[in-house]
This record gives sequence, C-alpha cells and structure tokens, in this order.
Amino acid sequence: MIEITNITKTYASGFTALRDVNLTIKKGEIFALLGPNGAGKTTLISAICGLVEPSGGTITVGGFDTKKEYRQARSLIGLVPQELFLEIFETVWSTMTYARGFYGKKDDPELYEQILRDLSLWDKKDEKIQALSGGMKRRVLIARALTNEPAVLFLDEPTAGVDVELRREMLDVVKDLQKRGTTVILTTHYIEEAEELADRIGIISAGEIKLVEDKDALMKRMGHKTLSLNLVQNLEKLPVGVQQEGVALSPDGSQIHYSYKTGANSGITTLLSSLKEAGVAFEDLDTEQSSLEEIFVTLINQK
Ligand SMILES: Nc1ncnc2c1ncn2[C@@H]1O[C@H](COP(=O)(O)OP(=O)(O)O)[C@@H](O)[C@H]1O
Ligand SMILES: [Mg+2]
Repeated sequence: MIEITNITKTYASGFTALRDVNLTIKKGEIFALLGPNGAGKTTLISAICGLVEPSGGTITVGGFDTKKEYRQARSLIGLVPQELFLEIFETVWSTMTYARGFYGKKDDPELYEQILRDLSLWDKKDEKIQALSGGMKRRVLIARALTNEPAVLFLDEPTAGVDVELRREMLDVVKDLQKRGTTVILTTHYIEEAEELADRIGIISAGEIKLVEDKDALMKRMGHKTLSLNLVQNLEKLPVGVQQEGVALSPDGSQIHYSYKTGANSGITTLLSSLKEAGVAFEDLDTEQSSLEEIFVTLINQK
C-alpha cells in the first residue's frame, strides 16, 4: 500500500527529523508507529500525506509517487490530525460536505449517512460541532477523513489526552475500520494501544526506524515470562539444588518466581525436577507474559 524509500527530512531550522527511513505498509493492516515525543512520527505521516516535503527519498501510496503523482496519491489517503481542527459553528453534516468538496470529490449524502451511522454520529448530524462532547468531536474528525473514502487512514495520536472510556471507543472504531478493509496507520506513544491494536509495529526514535516487526513475533522474541509457584509450605530460603539463574524466592517465602525467555530451552523442566528432588511442593502456578512496554523501553535504551 505504501512504500517509503530512503526518506530524510531536515527542517529549515537545520534540524534533521527523519534519517533514511525505509518502510513498507501492507494493504489492510493496522500498523502502529510507536515512539517517544519528538521522534518524528508526525513528520513521517506528514511526508506520506504530502504536507511536508522530504529532503530526500521517495514515497509511493498505492503505487503513486507522492511528489510526481500527488493527486492520485492524495486521493487514497485520509488523515486524522493530531490537533483538533474543526469549525465549531458548523454542523456535523456541513463538515462532511465541506470535507468531501475539499478532496475534490462529488457530494455524496448516502456516503455521509453511512459513515455517520458507522461512527454512531447519525443522531448528531444537525448539531453544531461546539455542542458536541470531546469524544464526539474526535469521531467527527474521523468521519471527516472518511469522506475521502480513503484506502489508507492515518491517525496521528488518536487518543492523546482522551479519557479511558473514549480511548476504548476509539480503539473499537479503528478495529471496525480494518474489518471494512481500510489500511490503518496510527502513531502513538501509548504502548498498550499498539499492543492491543496493531498487526505490525514500527519503533521510531530520534528520526530513525529502530525496528519493524510483526507484533506477535516481537512479543515472543523479546518477551520474558515469569512463572510463579505458590508453595504449600513457606520457605526461609531456596534449597541449594533449586538455585538456578532467574529463580528467586518471594520476600515472604510463599512463592518461587522464575523469570525465563519464552521458547525451547526455558529451563522449566530443570526447575521442576530440582524442586521435586528438594521436596518442595507447590499447590498452583501462574505465568505472566512481559508487556510490550518493557520491550519498548529495552529497545529505546539499547540504541
Ligand atoms: N517545522 C519544524 N521545524 C523545525 N523542527 C521541527 C518542525 N516540526 C517538527 N520539528 C522537530 O522535529 C522533531 C520531530 O517532530 P514530530 O515529527 O512532530 O515528532 P513526534 O510526532 O514523534 O512527536 C521534533 O524534534 C520537532 O521539534
Ligand atoms: Mg506527533
């Protein structure tokens, strides 16, 4: 869907916000671009959407060069910007018609109705924007971007500064869009969001793409698990035979924790047999997968 080749961006100030970015976005996927503030997420999205001119490199959207075939490329894109830009005295409906006109496409009331219904905005269609709640305004921003019937939708920090409930709603809206075949690229610095939504994750830091990987594979590769065994009888210290790397006794002596890398040589068999030999019995156990958050912090700090 999108092919980004050797993109760099140095702003007029001399600041380089993107360094040799290469990235391919597949059709129909949800791609999360994850990175701390100032990493270059908005700059990269703006470059793809033709709002920022790259200093070098090429980008194609649906095969169209964003520079030489700007119109064709742009016609495939919907952008939900980071900031709330809405005409507050307009109604929801007129926002839709205006946006469609802006994209240079023919007025299409049936399309607006479909979009507004899908986003649960239909009963608000004649309301002025200023009368809407923050959550509804966010939805209008998405609805507006959808008037272009985009093959690919960009959401730049869609949930920045929104409350928990609204965030939940936004995530559901994004999942729904994907179900209907839209390619979605979202930027976020909320790791849980990427963890929940994305098919693939790209990590950007200081203008460089550090990693692009299938989310599940990334979680598996980088992930650690912790095994917790609830002991039948509290221990004062770990028996000698049980002292293998990654094994620790909880402060109150009631649990043994074992932190291990997921995969073949996990060391669990060794642990269990040494427990048996030492005569330590447990009544139940728990495993916990490390979150993407830990993985992310590790990666950013590594480089
Ligand atoms: N117009 C500009 N002129 C100069 N520097 C800019 C401009 N826009 C953004 N930057 C800088 O580029 C870096 C990346 O910004 P941005 O792409 O907005 O990051 P993000 O969206 O990941 O927070 C930041 O250090 C920012 O200050
Ligand atoms: Mg940004």
